[in-house]
Amino acid sequence: MTSHLKKVELHCHLEGAAPPVLTEAQARKYGVDISGELRDGAYVWHDFASFLECYDKVSEVYRTEEDYALLTETYLDELAGINTIYSELIVSPDHGKRIGLGADAYISGVCEGIRRAKAKSGIEARLIVTGERHFGPESVIGAAEYAAKAGNPLITGFNLAGEERMGRVADYIRAFDIARDAGLGLTIHAGEVCGAFSVADALDAVRPARIGHGVRAIEDLDLVKRLADLGTVLEVCPGSNIALRVFPDFASHPLRRLKEAGVQVTISSDDPPFFRTSLEREYALAAEAFGFSDAEIDAMTRTAIEAAFVDEETRKALLSRL
Ligand code: ADE
Ligand code: ZN
Repeated sequence: MTSHLKKVELHCHLEGAAPPVLTEAQARKYGVDISGELRDGAYVWHDFASFLECYDKVSEVYRTEEDYALLTETYLDELAGINTIYSELIVSPDHGKRIGLGADAYISGVCEGIRRAKAKSGIEARLIVTGERHFGPESVIGAAEYAAKAGNPLITGFNLAGEERMGRVADYIRAFDIARDAGLGLTIHAGEVCGAFSVADALDAVRPARIGHGVRAIEDLDLVKRLADLGTVLEVCPGSNIALRVFPDFASHPLRRLKEAGVQVTISSDDPPFFRTSLEREYALAAEAFGFSDAEIDAMTRTAIEAAFVDEETRKALLSRL
């Protein structure tokens, strides 16, 4: 039982957290046929590429500032209900642009959702702006420029997500330079769909403080040691990795091996309803599938707070709530 433990989430894509019932209601509201992507209360996809397509299609039924406020508030309320004290949401202002809402209105809706949720439960949240590889380097630079210029105190990080098999991290260095110069925390999806080389690429080209997933680093033990020596924090999402068949089952998932090799690991849910999971389930899995004690799980939560993209005052307050 892990329901009593305080929780922190560093890696969740906002649109990836959309509850199927809410998406159905949104699709009805806009007269969108979502039956190819959402059936019997579950999102439908069969591999990583079709997951990304499904994700983009689902995102299309969230269209207004209020839609984003509601989506954000709904997810943060759910997190607060399972004792979560801090959440970093991966957001895509570029998506706001693509649907004609505009990046500012998209972010403003999300911030309103954060404000509403915090007023009810005290949950803290920050935003990580992401670029997506499958929309190309120019769009990723645009996302970094937006994040850097937004001057929004809730935007504290920059990420690279999307189709990992497209391009190499080196193609995106300019975007990360812009984000770093603006004082944003850096994290990169790597070592999820692609192997250890992709994690090494991220370290060589950008050396982010954190890596999204990074679990396939286990294929190269020198790289595992490098991660441990650098103190790079991995945002590990075991349920996502099993759903996307990065590993065949929890017994072969490397979370415990990475931790025992001295790598800083944390637990997140990625795109929970797409993978039939939740942050609550990920914490339960840490205990039940990986055999971690409450103290070990608390230590991972502490690592997450230490690696959070927040000001030092907020970090101190979060640590004292743990
Ligand atoms: N976008 C949403 N979820 C993702 C994932 N698991 N990997 C890469 N890009 C994503
Ligand atoms: Zn992710």
